Amino acid sequence: MQRYKHSLAITAIIFILVLTLSQCLSKPEKGMATTADLRGTGYIGSAACTNCHQEIHKSYLATAHRNTSASPSTASIKGSFESGRNAFHYRANVKVAMEQRSNGLFQVAYMNDQEKQAFPFGVVVGSGRKAQTYLYWYDDNVFQLPVSYSVWAKAWVNSPSYPADKVRFDRLINIGCFECHGSYIERKGTQQEGERMVDYFDKTKVIYGMDCERCHGPAAEHVSFHSSHPEEKQAQHIALYKQLSRQRQVDLCAQCHSGGHTTKNSIFSFKPGDSLSQYFSSAIKTGGDVSKLDVHGNQYQLITGSQCYIKSNVLSCTSCHNPHVQERENMAVLSQRCASCHQAVTHSFAAKLPANAINTNCIDCHMPALPSRAITLKQEEKTNADPNLIRTHFISIYPEQTKQFIESHKN
Ligand code: HEC
Ligand code: HEC
Ligand code: HEC
Ligand code: HEC
Ligand code: HEC
Ligand code: HEC
Ligand code: HEC
Repeated sequence: MQRYKHSLAITAIIFILVLTLSQCLSKPEKGMATTADLRGTGYIGSAACTNCHQEIHKSYLATAHRNTSASPSTASIKGSFESGRNAFHYRANVKVAMEQRSNGLFQVAYMNDQEKQAFPFGVVVGSGRKAQTYLYWYDDNVFQLPVSYSVWAKAWVNSPSYPADKVRFDRLINIGCFECHGSYIERKGTQQEGERMVDYFDKTKVIYGMDCERCHGPAAEHVSFHSSHPEEKQAQHIALYKQLSRQRQVDLCAQCHSGGHTTKNSIFSFKPGDSLSQYFSSAIKTGGDVSKLDVHGNQYQLITGSQCYIKSNVLSCTSCHNPHVQERENMAVLSQRCASCHQAVTHSFAAKLPANAINTNCIDCHMPALPSRAITLKQEEKTNADPNLIRTHFISIYPEQTKQFIESHKN
C-alpha cells in the first residue's frame, strides 16, 4: 500500500498557530459560556441547547442526521461480529472477517485461513437506515475498509467502488464524507500526490454526526444572551429560518442533498442564509428533465424540478420534513403534508381501493422508492450488485407503481 508522508515542519507550524489562536479566542468573556468547541469561537456544542430546547434535543437524538457518522463500537456498527456471521467471502479461499480483539474491532483479510492484513474500524459512516461503510486511519490519512454492511440484505457486503473479487484497502478518503456526514474534522493540510489530492487530518479533532449548529450555525452568542435574559421570548443572535427566502431555505439542505461538487470553501462553515454559490465552484444544473437523475443524493434537483415546487411559491424541504424528528416511512403523517396543498383530489381508480388507502399513502404512488444506479451493494453469493432503493423526489404520476399499489390492496 502507498504511504503518504507530509512535511512535519509545516504541520508543526500550523499546529502551533492553531493552538495559540484557540487559546486567545476561547478566553471567556463576561457572561459567555466557557465550553470550548473544536470549530472555534462562536460555536458552543449541542449540550448547551438541552436546557432551553429539551424536547427538540431529545427527539433529535433518534434521527439519521444525528447518527450519520460515529466512532466504532458494537452498538454503532450494525453488522455482526459473531463467529459464523462475521465474514464476507470474495472467493472460496479468500475472506474478510470482522473480529472483536482485545485491542479493538478489526477487518481481517485471510487467504487459505492465513491472516494477510488487519486494520481497525476507525470511523462508521451511515446511521444504519440502509447501509454503513467503514473507514480506517493510517497515520493522518483515512481509507475505506473493504467490507460494508447492508441493512436491507442483513449482510456484510463488498464496499462500493472496490472490485468484487479482490480484497482492497487502498481507497483514499478525503474530507467530503465528513462534510456531508458530520459536523467537523480538523484538516491539517492537503497535498497533491501524483494524480490526486490527499487530505491530512487530526483524528483527535472530530465531531461525529450532525449537531444542532451544523444546521443552525454558530450559536454561542444566542446561548449567552438567553442565559442572561431569561425574560426574552424572541430568539436573538440566531438565524431565523422562516424569514429566509425559499431559495436560501432549500440551499441549507442542498449543501448535502444535491450530490457531490467541487468546493471552493468547506461546507462545514455553511450557515443559514448562505448560498450554494459561496461554496460550490460551479452552479448546480436545475430544471429541464430531471426524471433521469439518480435518486441518490439529488433530492434538491428532483424536488425543484417537480410541479409542486414550480407551481407553488412556498414548497421547501421542511414543508414535508421535520428536521428534529425521525418520521421515516410514516406514510400517514407524510401524506397529511401533501394534503395541506391537495385537499380533495379525485382519482379515477378511487372505487377500486378501500376508503383510507389513498388518503394515508400518497407516497408509494407519487414518490416511489426507485433503484439507485450510484449506490449498489454486492452480497457474497450473488454475481451482480443490487441497487439501493431510494425515494425519488421527482413528484409525478407513476403508472407502474399505481398498478402495483392497487394489486397489493386486492385480497
Ligand atoms: C438559555 C436558553 C437558551 C439556550 C441555552 C438555547 N436557546 Fe435557542 N432559543 C431560546 C429562546 C428563548 C428562543 C425563542 C423561543 C423559541 O423559539 O423557542 C430560542 C430560539 C431558537 C431557535 C429558533 C429561531 C427561529 O427561527 O425562530 C433556534 C434555531 C435556536 N434557538 C437554536 C438554539 C441552539 C442550536 C442552541 C444550542 C447551541 C440553543 N438554541 C440554546 C433560548 C435558548
Ligand atoms: C451536513 C449535510 C446535511 C445537511 C445540511 C442536511 N442533510 Fe439530510 N441527510 C444527510 C445525510 C448524510 C443523510 C443520510 C443519513 C444516514 O442515514 O446516515 C441525510 C438524510 C436525510 C433524510 C432521511 C432521514 C431518514 O430517517 O430516512 C432526510 C428526510 C433529510 N436528510 C432531510 C434534510 C433536510 C430537510 C435538510 C435541511 C433542513 C437536510 N436534510 C440537511 C446530510 C445532510
Ligand atoms: C455531497 C454530500 C455527500 C457526500 C460527499 C457523501 N455522502 Fe453519503 N450520503 C449523503 C446523503 C444525502 C445520503 C442519504 C440520502 C440519499 O441516499 O440520497 C447519504 C447516504 C450514505 C449512506 C447510507 C446511509 C444509511 O444509513 O442509509 C452511506 C453508507 C454513505 N452515504 C457513505 C458515504 C461515504 C463513505 C462517503 C465518502 C466516500 C459519502 N457517503 C459521501 C450525502 C453525501
Ligand atoms: C438538519 C438541520 C437541522 C438540525 C440538525 C437541527 N435543526 Fe433546528 N431547525 C431546522 C430548520 C430547517 C428549522 C425551521 C423549521 C421550520 O420553520 O419549518 C429549525 C427550527 C428550530 C427551532 C425553532 C422552531 C421549532 O421547530 O421549534 C429550534 C428551537 C431549533 N430548530 C433548535 C434545534 C436544536 C436544539 C437542534 C439540535 C438538537 C437542532 N435544531 C438541530 C434545522 C435543523
Ligand atoms: C406547498 C404545496 C404543495 C405540497 C405540500 C405538495 N404539493 Fe403537489 N402540487 C402542488 C402544486 C401547486 C401543483 C401544481 C398543480 C397544478 O399544476 O395545477 C402540484 C402538483 C402535483 C402533482 C401533479 C404532478 C404533475 O407532474 O402533473 C402531483 C401528483 C402532486 N402534486 C402530488 C403531491 C404529493 C404526493 C405531495 C406530498 C408528498 C404533494 N404533492 C405536496 C403543491 C403542493
Ligand atoms: C412533498 C414532500 C417532500 C418534500 C418537499 C421533500 N421531501 Fe424528502 N421525502 C418525502 C417523503 C414522503 C419521503 C419518504 C418517506 C421517508 O423516507 O421518510 C422522503 C424521503 C427523503 C429522504 C430519504 C430517501 C431515502 O429513500 O433514503 C431524503 C434524504 C429526503 N427526503 C430529503 C429531502 C430534501 C433534502 C428535500 C428538499 C430538497 C426534501 N426531501 C423535500 C417527502 C418530501
Ligand atoms: C394508487 C396510487 C395513488 C395514490 C395512493 C395516490 N395517487 Fe394521486 N394520482 C395517481 C394517478 C395514477 C394519477 C393520475 C390521474 C388519475 O388516474 O386519477 C394521480 C393524480 C394526482 C394528482 C394530479 C391530479 C390532476 O388532476 O392533475 C394529484 C395532485 C395527486 N394525484 C395527489 C395525490 C395525493 C395528495 C394523494 C394522497 C392523499 C394521492 N395522490 C394518492 C396515483 C395515486
